[in-house]
Amino acid sequence: MSTESPVGDNFTKVAAADEIEQGTGIAVDVKGIEVAVFNTGDDFYAILNRCAHQQAPLYKAGEEKINAEDTWTDTRGGVDAENATVSCPWHLWEWDLETGEHEVTGKCISTFDVEVADGDVYVSI
Ligand code: FES
Repeated sequence: MSTESPVGDNFTKVAAADEIEQGTGIAVDVKGIEVAVFNTGDDFYAILNRCAHQQAPLYKAGEEKINAEDTWTDTRGGVDAENATVSCPWHLWEWDLETGEHEVTGKCISTFDVEVADGDVYVSI
């Protein structure tokens, strides 16, 4: 799919900015690559949608657990807007949304440039 982009030919429109609620993310396919796009409230970030630990889909971070009342937290990971990080929904590894790095292990996930123009979010692969 190719969409005319006001921010450059390398960028693909992935959503309207208001479709990604603050503190949540979406999963999109950009040129065959599964990308998670998060809205921290201050900014939008794009990162490969698969956790480098055991391949969990990162965009599900922050979703409510099915058995929330029996656990110490009612959500599965989440977005930390202040630190611009996302906690993986499976084992809560925290990934830096800017660099894609997991500080404890030094592992990295690919991140992608994001631009917002005319109320739409664009990602460069
Ligand atoms: S799969 Fe992401 S922390 Fe384990």
